[in-house]
Amino acid sequence: MSVSKEVKRVTVHVLQAMKSRGEKITMLTGYDYSMARILDDAGVEAILVGDSASNVMAGHETTLPITLDQMIYHASSVVRAVKRALVVVDLPFGSYQGSSRVALESAIRIMKESGAHAVKMEGGEEIADSIRRILSAGIPVMGHLGLTPQSIYKFGTYQVRAKEEEEANALKHNAKVLEEIGCFSLVLEKIPAKLAKEVSENLVIPTIGIGAGVHTDGQVLVTHDMLGITKDFQPRFLRRYLELYDQIQEAVQKYCADVKSLDFPNEQEQY
Ligand code: KIV
Repeated sequence: MSVSKEVKRVTVHVLQAMKSRGEKITMLTGYDYSMARILDDAGVEAILVGDSASNVMAGHETTLPITLDQMIYHASSVVRAVKRALVVVDLPFGSYQGSSRVALESAIRIMKESGAHAVKMEGGEEIADSIRRILSAGIPVMGHLGLTPQSIYKFGTYQVRAKEEEEANALKHNAKVLEEIGCFSLVLEKIPAKLAKEVSENLVIPTIGIGAGVHTDGQVLVTHDMLGITKDFQPRFLRRYLELYDQIQEAVQKYCADVKSLDFPNEQEQY
């Protein structure tokens, strides 16, 4: 008799139940198979195939250039690795704004071609029609308010959002709208902790914060930032758990030195 250990998958309902019992949700970004395997094995509840892949994987200055095809490539690599975590995929810039039909087609392509479990979209009331249409197809949607990097040219900077009352009120309104429409969760990016607390307490659905303080229902970071693979990015909200840039560089330098000195490969490392 074979004994197989069954893995209980994280669903949007699991995240909701976690909020209800006050258990914090962990989410990290993933863009490829190997890293996604590590994240999933380590036990994160959700992996975000973020359009930050545009920065981290492709070296673009903003998230705007990444395409739907490229997001699907990253998402399908992640999905192949994951046994437990919920996989959420960003709809990239230009794939949902302005037309709910285009938005639905984009979301369906992501779900069909990558096997992911949900999509994430930046914006509030102004994209409500697109969100509704995607939800009507049975696709779970995560919202994203506060600093929304796809609008960087409107904002002009990556500074903290909603510090002033008017923008804070608009954010609170949009959070309620997204919940009422049916989003299963909301990312709150780079807003004052006090505001994130108020929004999180006023919503039934879980909030996931990045640079939004400790009172959101969960936290998300860009994996390459928290592992110290990206070197020159050190915002106040980021905690680095490793300095992998330096460690990898050291290992590569050691390898180069070993090859040049004929130390590698040795007797045991050849046939
Ligand atoms: O693309 C991304 O990585 C994100 C997170 C910063 C939330 O949207």
